[in-house]
Amino acid sequence: MDFELSETQKMIQQMAREFAKEQLAPAAAELDEKAEFPSRHLKKMGELGFMGMMIPEEWGGSGLDTVSYVLTLEEISAACASTGVTMSVNNSLYCGPIVKYGTDAQKKTHLVPFARGEKLGAYCLSEPGTGSDAANQQTTAVLKGDKYILNGTKNFITSGPNADAMVVFAMTDKAKRHKGISAFIVEKGFTGIVVGKVEKKLGIRASSTSSIVLQDCEVPKENLLGKESDGFSIAMNTLDYGRIGIATQALGISQAAFEAALEYSKQREAFGQTISNFQAIQWMLADMSTRIAASRLLVHRAAWMKDQGKPCTLEAAQAKLFSSETSNFVTNKAVQIHGGYGYCREYPVERYLRDARITEIYEGTSEIQRLVIARNLLKD
Ligand code: CAA
Repeated sequence: MDFELSETQKMIQQMAREFAKEQLAPAAAELDEKAEFPSRHLKKMGELGFMGMMIPEEWGGSGLDTVSYVLTLEEISAACASTGVTMSVNNSLYCGPIVKYGTDAQKKTHLVPFARGEKLGAYCLSEPGTGSDAANQQTTAVLKGDKYILNGTKNFITSGPNADAMVVFAMTDKAKRHKGISAFIVEKGFTGIVVGKVEKKLGIRASSTSSIVLQDCEVPKENLLGKESDGFSIAMNTLDYGRIGIATQALGISQAAFEAALEYSKQREAFGQTISNFQAIQWMLADMSTRIAASRLLVHRAAWMKDQGKPCTLEAAQAKLFSSETSNFVTNKAVQIHGGYGYCREYPVERYLRDARITEIYEGTSEIQRLVIARNLLKD
């Protein structure tokens, strides 16, 4: 067993840390306040190779391993969790399934510019009445001539208003439930696709979230991703990797909140001494750092397993469950240590607390992670 990072991994981590501290962190509060999409940061991240990190170089990516990806994403998310989720979705939920299931022609058009960070991708699975029960898709796709005609509404789509293309799931055979779902690559410019309601959110306010309405949306036959009816398995397999990303986003938020609380506890005085002298504060810091360390180990284990080509459904769900619950625990404690100041916008812990909340909801709630974990433990 070896916990040491390789020289390349250390170098990428350092590069991400410097970029995040110098460019992202100073802008994060203002972007959050204005709910402003971080376009200029994403452009720079594309140039740094952060938008398609695990995609081979021949398809526009950086050709790195998943461990390098989580090291980078942790730094980005610690500085700006909104930028973190946007990076995660493009890397794992959009580029991920296209590199795995796409044809060479699809990769040339729909992967290369996205992996380079010149274009942005999204993932459309959830619907207004279909969240946790992802197999209950109501969006339909009917083949007419050389086009599929898609009808339905996709909900809570990360980067929806800003994405150039998305992987969309729809029923090609409604009678077959999950065995009748197919996946499509849908471009924003296609006839019949419009951005619907843009959500106003509690946290990750600088990321964009909207519904996507498909009304007789015309999708060329060659944009079917994988085979017809393979969609549910593509969606689930993609989410295994996506969940490693959200676990990492949560880890980054936790680390940022912990560092802010530690620093504050060494400055703030009460009863004639810094509050870090009090056991009540020390125990909070000890619990926070221990849970963060455990989250990081779970995240790195899941990333390492993916890199070994091993199935990691269980490990990704465990990492996501623990790391997201930890980020809610840690950010709450960070606010507590800051007292009244922690509740105000002048300190960043208030934003960390709001940002942490979603990590227990998207890409499968904590309840769904427990279900996935239990099913994996109990299967023959
Ligand atoms: N990889 C590949 N295939 C898988 C799989 C996996 N991880 N998990 C299940 N499957 C396959 C099964 O093998 C089974 O295949 P067969 O029928 O051929 O045997 C099939 O899928 C059905 O599996 P289940 O019986 O387990 O399906 P289910 O209907 O009981 O649902 C679920 C499983 C785990 C609850 C699933 O619906 C789920 O993950 N729900 C949560 C959805 C989710 O995470 N949504 C997030 C939206 S995306 C998002 O949030 C992105 C964003 O913007 C940030």
